[in-house]
Amino acid sequence: MGKNIVLIGFMGTGKSSVGMKLAERLNRKFVDMDREIERVCGMSVSDIFRRYGEVRFRSEERLMAGKLARQTGLVIATGGGVILADGNLEALQKNGTVINLEAKPEYIFQRVNRKKGTRPLIKKNITVEDIKEMLQHRQPLYQQAEVIVNTNDKGVDEVVEEIIAILRSRGELPGRQDSGKCEK
Ligand code: S3P
Repeated sequence: MGKNIVLIGFMGTGKSSVGMKLAERLNRKFVDMDREIERVCGMSVSDIFRRYGEVRFRSEERLMAGKLARQTGLVIATGGGVILADGNLEALQKNGTVINLEAKPEYIFQRVNRKKGTRPLIKKNITVEDIKEMLQHRQPLYQQAEVIVNTNDKGVDEVVEEIIAILRSRGELPGRQDSGKCEK
């Protein structure tokens, strides 16, 4: 089985929708880290934050990153804060290609506002300036990814095809013409 494909990036950059579609296209198993943490803990990410605090969530996130990093052939959508703790990215990079989905703050603002109330770190009256501030702090961490894909003004399918083309050009996926056929 090939390396994992690991999507990182700020909240609202499309990691989950792109990851799901990418896995479908590549016929791979898709794992959404937040959903998996929710399954293991038996409660939503919002409830983990509310009842036990961010520190507890980060600890669950670190355990999950370690667990997934020991598997292969997955498409993984991480939570936006996976880059914050030392060691998570390193673990995921060992047998995975880490791809950062980038988007401009205005675009992120629109995306996170459409799903208000589902993200504990996004307060009700969040502004573009708040997002810029968080991004400024996190940007150097996201930029440790081997591949950076800009998602501004692109649909999910477009981003998925771009990722597939990049992975093919890196020799990490079979090219269209050599999918399963043996030439003499
Ligand atoms: C977080 C992002 C969320 C989720 C948690 C913390 C972050 O995931 O893991 O609320 O710190 O950026 P999404 O990026 O899928 O929203």
